[in-house]
Amino acid sequence: MEENQKVLTKRWRKVDPRELTSYRKLGGYEVLQRVLQMKPRLIIEEIVKSGLQGRGGGGFPTGKKWESAASFESDEKYFICNLDESEPGTYKDRLLAENDPHQLIEGIIIGSYAVGAKKAYIYVNGNFHLAHFLLERAVNQAYEHHFLGQGLMGSDYSLDIEIFVGAGAYICGEETALINSIEGKRGEPRKRPPYTSECGLFNKPTVVNNAETIASIPWIMEHGGTKYAQIGSNGDVGTKIFCIDGIVKNPGAYEVPMGTDINDLIFKYAGGIESGDEPWFAQIGGSAGQLVPPNSFADSPSYSRDANVSVGSGALLVISKNQDIKELMLSWMNFFQRESCGQCVPCREGTFRLKMILERLKNGNFSKEDKDDFHKLIWTLDNTTFCALGKFSAIALKDVVKYGFCKELE
Ligand SMILES: Cc1cc2nc3c(=O)[nH]c(=O)nc-3n(C[C@H](O)[C@H](O)[C@H](O)COP(=O)(O)O)c2cc1C
Ligand code: SF4
Repeated sequence: MEENQKVLTKRWRKVDPRELTSYRKLGGYEVLQRVLQMKPRLIIEEIVKSGLQGRGGGGFPTGKKWESAASFESDEKYFICNLDESEPGTYKDRLLAENDPHQLIEGIIIGSYAVGAKKAYIYVNGNFHLAHFLLERAVNQAYEHHFLGQGLMGSDYSLDIEIFVGAGAYICGEETALINSIEGKRGEPRKRPPYTSECGLFNKPTVVNNAETIASIPWIMEHGGTKYAQIGSNGDVGTKIFCIDGIVKNPGAYEVPMGTDINDLIFKYAGGIESGDEPWFAQIGGSAGQLVPPNSFADSPSYSRDANVSVGSGALLVISKNQDIKELMLSWMNFFQRESCGQCVPCREGTFRLKMILERLKNGNFSKEDKDDFHKLIWTLDNTTFCALGKFSAIALKDVVKYGFCKELE
């Protein structure tokens, strides 16, 4: 992507992530000054106009979420930056924090001001040591320079940011489990409704946004929602960071306009396929992602409900024809079985039993009963679990069956 079209990564390798002064020299915190003179309602209108959709995987409209949290009367409200990012193959949020932490802080301040929160949290994955160090340093610098704290930047608005370090559990990326974790409870999802925007952290109106969503906010407020809505194609707006890995020549994180198709992601951005290899399929969205065969590489990952390919976390793993599908299936289920929080039986037992079945499949002692149970358990995970993790664990396995990638399962 051209340098001047970038929204999220434009300062990467130009800004010193350790220094607020370096961020300031590149225009940082300028838009915040202007935003603090605006009515919160007008900020939310700008975000609605931008069409920004949450980058945490679900694609929920950010403006709508802010509108909802702002609409509830309460003395206390919270704004949370979700930087748990435990989806395998996904590292965009960590890189955003490591390369440009003040951009995130500026986005958090704007979001908190817009919804009326006086306290914000950054929920950072405990394995992200550098991101944690840089964020803590950036928050301290923001306090020293009065971008945080009482009457920030000379306004009558006050905000505190606290960094909360999670233990790196996948389920704690789910917003209600994350809230439980901050409250000192077990990291288990809550029943909804009530929704977080009305009854979230400490039962107060709360916004939880993904770090990449928040990193888009300063740019939108600087250039306007309309300009943001003009980026992208095929009905999806703005830019997105894809983490491209597997048998590509140049694996890494790439910011691209939404609407970019899989072929371009692989060939234009990641340098194409390594010589001597051939793609079998791509997995989009981490271990929770669907499988896409090469004859659908002209599709673009989208947040639209009826899209052929969903964006998910934005991970794109290109799998070689030489890969062993049985090993892959077992590695996916190992992950979900380990990360299941255990709160509901279908997921706790279902992921465990599927793992056993997949072990037998890999070791060559897969029976007719195993095959029947495999299909029943997939259905159970897909339809009966308490939260989306159960459903996630079935996505790739269903696609293995759909595309006939493993003949024993047919
Ligand atoms: C099992 C599970 C794991 C999740 N992990 C993350 C995560 O690591 N980061 C994230 O931002 N959202 C994650 N989500 C989605 C969050 O629940 C929530 O929708 C998101 O943080 C909202 O932010 P957004 O509107 O900006 O996308 C996860 C959801 C589920 C069901
Ligand atoms: S589906 Fe899995 S992760 Fe979600 S509540 Fe049930 S046991 Fe926990």
